[in-house]
Amino acid sequence: MNKSTTITHLLDYFNNDINYFVSKVDINIEKYLNCLSATEVKEIYRSTLTNPTNPTNPTNPTQTTTIQPQSTTTTIQPYLPFDSKRPTEDIKERISKMIKERNTDRRQQNLMILGQLYKDDVINNIKIIKPLSLRDDTLIYIGKQGNKKVIVKVQPRNKKEYNFRLPNYSYQLATEACFFNSIKKYNLNTIPTFYFYGNLAPLDPAIDIERYMLVMELLGNNLTILKNKPVATIVNGVLLALKTIQSLHNCGITSTPKESFVHKDVKHENFVFTDDTMTTVKVIDFGLAESLYDTKHRRKNYKSSYAKPGDGTPLYMSTMQHKLSIHDYMDDLQAFAWMLLDLLGNQPLSTGMTWYNATTNDQRLAMKLEFIARCKDPIYSGRLANGTLTIHNIGVIGELAAYTINRTQYSTDLKNDDSIYYTEYNEQYYKDIETIIRKLR
Ligand SMILES: Nc1ncnc2c1ncn2[C@@H]1O[C@H](COP(=O)(O)OP(=O)(O)OP(=O)(O)O)[C@@H](O)[C@H]1O
Ligand SMILES: [Mg+2]
Repeated sequence: MNKSTTITHLLDYFNNDINYFVSKVDINIEKYLNCLSATEVKEIYRSTLTNPTNPTNPTNPTQTTTIQPQSTTTTIQPYLPFDSKRPTEDIKERISKMIKERNTDRRQQNLMILGQLYKDDVINNIKIIKPLSLRDDTLIYIGKQGNKKVIVKVQPRNKKEYNFRLPNYSYQLATEACFFNSIKKYNLNTIPTFYFYGNLAPLDPAIDIERYMLVMELLGNNLTILKNKPVATIVNGVLLALKTIQSLHNCGITSTPKESFVHKDVKHENFVFTDDTMTTVKVIDFGLAESLYDTKHRRKNYKSSYAKPGDGTPLYMSTMQHKLSIHDYMDDLQAFAWMLLDLLGNQPLSTGMTWYNATTNDQRLAMKLEFIARCKDPIYSGRLANGTLTIHNIGVIGELAAYTINRTQYSTDLKNDDSIYYTEYNEQYYKDIETIIRKLR
């Protein structure tokens, strides 16, 4: 797909709402699509400034908080440019404007803007040097602590005195910190080194707000860099990723683990190479990570009481996760199938496959089930084949996904009292998955 088609696709996907596109998409999107340069992304961003339907000029800090009170039609505000100064307007004034927005998604976006960090801010002895990803509820920056570069993840604190509820605001940083603390004792080298998590006071109480911050080791590119690479390179990277997931599942103890975590958001963006040699991979993003054992070290075999539809990434999540089934190893393993589908095809999975035009999670589930059922049907797979996603490779991906669904191959494949399928840890699963992945060519 050439650049202009890609841009058209993206704009289409985001309903021509350029602000929504800019606010939603990782600023590193050019890496993901492998075809847009940073300049082109900036160009798209800049076009929001000249869009006559958008009255907001993000280069002017005082205007960014011009929220039309009680309105339900205001456009989502983009973040302020990283190298602008923090607005000097009194913070109480800005908070009061923020809470006048009735649409909760926009209100959340406004809170995020209040929590933004700027170039050369120094927070907890870390100097902020570069923004990496500004999303709905987490802001990620590269910072410098002495000579060491670190990743800084930030969430503005949603306080009681702001007097509002944000139903879509997640507390993923707290979950992530909790995960890092629980897994620390196993000294895994498959996850980044964790340095700090805490609630930090405003940088300046007159113009800034409180925020949670998590600091960890800075690693290299995420696995989206594998897209459009030869199949053998993709297979190598993905098998390294599989090892990191196995290490969460068994906490580094190969036979019978005492503790076990599932990641629940397996996708290529959540694995990173440690350096440019692309020989070592670590897994990141533990905002949804979940222990599979209860406090008495028993495998939890009931449905999670707090999982919400849409937790995880609907494009890549397992069919079981769509149905909010029991948290299981197979969720993470099936996600490898959808990740490979994306990496092998020469178009983004979200826009490139007609059957992924599904917009609701139920439609996505139906499409995945259809894929599994029909992956060996040459007419069906012939329609999907593109790039290195050949008819043969579609069959292999279908086999991988099918492997993770409802079967009784091993004694560790189990069913609970309600006949819901789940598994106990079994080393053979990972060997089988590796064998299937190695069939790709
Ligand atoms: N330790 C790290 N080293 C290098 N890059 C990182 C690191 N942590 C995060 N990144 C980069 O930032 C991106 C977003 O990070 P992460 O997945 O942790 O955040 P998130 O906001 O929880 O993402 P998601 O969109 O999956 O919810 C990653 O895809 C990766 O490219
Ligand atoms: Mg992520």
